[in-house]
Amino acid sequence: MSTDDMKKRAAEAALDYVEDNTVLGVGTGSTANYFIEALSRIKHRLDGVVSSSAATTQRLKAFGIPVLDLNAAGPLPLYVDGADETNRQLQLIKGGGGALTREKIVAAASELFVCIADQSKWVEMLGAFPLPIEVIPMARSHVGRELLKRGGQPVLRENFITDNGNLILDVYNLQILEPAKLEAELNSIVGIVTVGLFALRPANVLLLATAEGVKTIRPWRS
Ligand code: A5P
Repeated sequence: MSTDDMKKRAAEAALDYVEDNTVLGVGTGSTANYFIEALSRIKHRLDGVVSSSAATTQRLKAFGIPVLDLNAAGPLPLYVDGADETNRQLQLIKGGGGALTREKIVAAASELFVCIADQSKWVEMLGAFPLPIEVIPMARSHVGRELLKRGGQPVLRENFITDNGNLILDVYNLQILEPAKLEAELNSIVGIVTVGLFALRPANVLLLATAEGVKTIRPWRS
């Protein structure tokens, strides 16, 4: 089965979590795009969707799904999104598509975060995927130096501006032994808007598509 087929299956499985007459949050990326496609089949049963990026908004509108503002929609029962990496605690690396800030906001405002992914995203330890960090443009060098001090190799994402008008540093070679601790530490560096580690607020459910089918995984607790 191809990776795209797996992404599609994980996305389809997330429909089971969508309740009638509710507003849900929708993420960004190729797996989330499959979810939007699936969602369009039941759009008459939805009150609307809160989007996590300009790209997702455009896609939702193209499918005729009403897009609502998070401030007007209030707390959401559900957020569905993909990930670049997930570990057994369902702590994630996100931001490969650069939408990490709005994704983190919508995830924070949601009761249940359902992550949809193909099996290539499953890792024992986070960090092989370079950690995306959104930074205020004038803080780029300062933040870069702070990341170097912590053993990371920050690389400016070329020709890329986020939906919020900021830059992305992709940080290589970080040893992410304690994801929540690292997220909190990086959050305290002035000039960082958002760290693409979703460990303080991990996913609640992972729908992981494998060649054998879609597995439903809850966070592993030691
Ligand atoms: C977008 O900024 C990301 O967080 C995506 O959710 C993540 O990169 C997963 O994308 P794919 O579904 O395209 O792999």
